[in-house]
Amino acid sequence: MTYLERFDATPESEQFALARGWLDTEALPFVNELREKRPILKTSVCTFVANFDDVIETLRVHQVFTVEPYYEKMKPYLMSEDDTPVHFRDKSAMSAFLDRGDIPRIRALVGQETKAALDTANGQIDAVAGLTRHVPIRVVQEYFGLDIAPEAKLAEWSFWNQYDAFHNHPWDIVADRQMVLDNVARSKKELVAAIAMLLAKKEAMVLTHLPMGDTVVDRVMKTHIETPGQFELQWKGLNIGGLLIGTVETSSQATVQALAQLINRPDALQAAQQAANYEDPTIFDGYVWEALRFDPISPYLFRRSNADYTLGAGRPWQTQIPAGTAVLPLVLAAMHDPVRFPNPEVFDPTRSQLTNTFHFGYGLHECMGRYVGGVIIPEIIRQVLLRDGLKQISPLDFDGKPLPEKYMIGWDA
Ligand code: HEM
Repeated sequence: MTYLERFDATPESEQFALARGWLDTEALPFVNELREKRPILKTSVCTFVANFDDVIETLRVHQVFTVEPYYEKMKPYLMSEDDTPVHFRDKSAMSAFLDRGDIPRIRALVGQETKAALDTANGQIDAVAGLTRHVPIRVVQEYFGLDIAPEAKLAEWSFWNQYDAFHNHPWDIVADRQMVLDNVARSKKELVAAIAMLLAKKEAMVLTHLPMGDTVVDRVMKTHIETPGQFELQWKGLNIGGLLIGTVETSSQATVQALAQLINRPDALQAAQQAANYEDPTIFDGYVWEALRFDPISPYLFRRSNADYTLGAGRPWQTQIPAGTAVLPLVLAAMHDPVRFPNPEVFDPTRSQLTNTFHFGYGLHECMGRYVGGVIIPEIIRQVLLRDGLKQISPLDFDGKPLPEKYMIGWDA
């Protein structure tokens, strides 16, 4: 039986759980079938959208398909606002502080940190704890300037905030929602206290004209930003906190999933290992973005509609989406659409790279940290692939959580 035959034969009250389960366990064949046979699939909890053009339209028409689901998780943050003055100001200001001129030195920092971790690991490492969480946290500490707590604490705060914001919605299957809410409440409290201390110290340095560094936090603190209706320091704290939460688990998940894809594709791995030695990383990076096309950080993004809307207009699958619908654009399905990605099942490191993919989102809410993530992810993997005798010791393990927890790899020490 096909997925849709099984779906149709299931009582309506159980259809969502069935479809959602497939997204966790066999996402690619399921979303491929949806795109081919029923590109808009309604369930009692949410509507799945699988056609490339409809995915784009859902993310482009932010007046209707809003980021309201983020609102209860992060309230006044730029990510939970659509096309408002606050979203425009905050994303513009923070993007300017994340100066793209810094990207080569961020890549160099990532390279040094990854190499150091590998050199001291004696031929075997849990890539999640030892690399894909550890190295982004070093970027958060060194480049962003959020050196406010031990690494384990930064990891814990970032983990729970990410879990709640992205994986604790009605369309997520969560064993214990209250446990997540309790942990995120505690993490937020501790994070706010630590950021308040940092801000007090930096503000004192600004006021007394003490020399400051050039981290992103230093840049934010040295700048006066008009924040009508909000205390400026509160604005600064919120957006500084967003840097930690935006960076660690996203980078970790993307890096470890792309690494696992490469390690499990011997031909691609061998070619990527050769490209890892090239001075210009562009060719190498193509292997990483292509690996991520097979296993992106999430097979979907999510929005909630605030008006009735016809999706797939003029196509055989045209569907009326009522106001108030949770809509999940299946970016995995879009990135395997044979019209846009010829022979989508073939691993081709020369195809679209970062354009035409959804690795960093699309449209108004496209990732603010995409240039930073754009070097963290491939450079960690490049350093790993430079080791001889690279092998997977045990498969990628989520330990029942929505984010990767463990990936044991080894090499010739
Ligand atoms: C490296 C530091 C990062 C920072 C500071 C950051 C921050 C952000 C922010 C603030 C947004 C919301 C933008 C808006 O609403 O206009 C965003 C969106 C997004 N980010 Fe990042 N991010 C980072 C890394 C990453 C990485 C590594 C990935 C995955 C590979 C990623 C994937 C995304 C996606 C998919 C969205 C769109 C979410 C949506 O449309 O609902 N980000 N990021």
